[in-house]
Amino acid sequence: MSVERITVIGGGTMGNGIAHVCAQAGLSVTLVDQDQDFLEKALGTIFKNLDRQVKKELISVGEKEEALGRIITATSLEDGISEAQLVVEAVPEKLELKEKIFRTLDEESPKDAILASNTSSISITEIAAFTNRPEKVIGMHFMNPVPMMKLVEVIRGLATDDETTKTVMELSEFLGKTPVEVNDFPGFVSNRVLLPMINEAVFALMEGVAQAEAIDTVMKLGMAHPMGPLALADLIGLDTCLSILEVLHRDIGDDRYRPCPLLRKYVAAGWLGRKSGRGFFSYAR
Ligand code: NAI
Repeated sequence: MSVERITVIGGGTMGNGIAHVCAQAGLSVTLVDQDQDFLEKALGTIFKNLDRQVKKELISVGEKEEALGRIITATSLEDGISEAQLVVEAVPEKLELKEKIFRTLDEESPKDAILASNTSSISITEIAAFTNRPEKVIGMHFMNPVPMMKLVEVIRGLATDDETTKTVMELSEFLGKTPVEVNDFPGFVSNRVLLPMINEAVFALMEGVAQAEAIDTVMKLGMAHPMGPLALADLIGLDTCLSILEVLHRDIGDDRYRPCPLLRKYVAAGWLGRKSGRGFFSYAR
């Protein structure tokens, strides 16, 4: 199946980036969020990021305007999905929220539409079981920031069929990304490897091994990481990091994935990283 129309559910950190790259590649995009304020914020971010690409001479002003012209918005899920060929869900990492959304997607979207989730860690097999089309449910895990990062981790649930996987692999390439197919296990590959490192960096901070800046500098200069683990956690969102660790801890059942208490404390305080202006570091808003 060749995809021309896509609906993105949730216009936050990931959803606005997914809408951006899809529109830039020429797809008709419907972006759905809870209310108009969220949608305006998402469109503002897309505008700003396309503008940055214009300034870097990566795209022309005309291409920016064409991309923006391909995005329409909706505040109701039902309105946004009636004609979708493929839906990418990017709402917060909460199982009960994803369940509600996937039940509605299954009822209201065209019967042959592919239903993809950008989840970081929740089981695709479990999400698929909320629908009557588990063979058409798949993980399409973009990386943050979406316009810049090449990888899409494509996660096959237990029932995902070959045609759905092929469509999503081909679509990812069409978007200029490199898809990698993986199987459905907690955290997939990316977050099973990344989050324990971030969690350990938070433990190191909590135990006074070093200051946040020092921990990140060790990992940048010593391990050639482009960002330190604490700055990366702030970029991902500390609430999202905590949710992923909780899934890893619960579903793998090993205490090495227990979330650091300091991470819980920051999330409880509303220090969520860049999106709230403060996490392990402070950000001008
Ligand atoms: P976010 O909190 O930045 O954005 C979520 C958006 O969903 C918000 O705009 C919110 O208003 C909207 N939303 C909430 N309930 C909704 C509903 N019922 N209908 C429509 N929209 C609704 O979250 P973020 O970081 O974009 O994460 C989204 C998903 O992507 C999560 O599953 C997360 O695990 C995953 N992810 C996050 C990455 C990151 O670096 N932040 C990286 C890769 C995946």
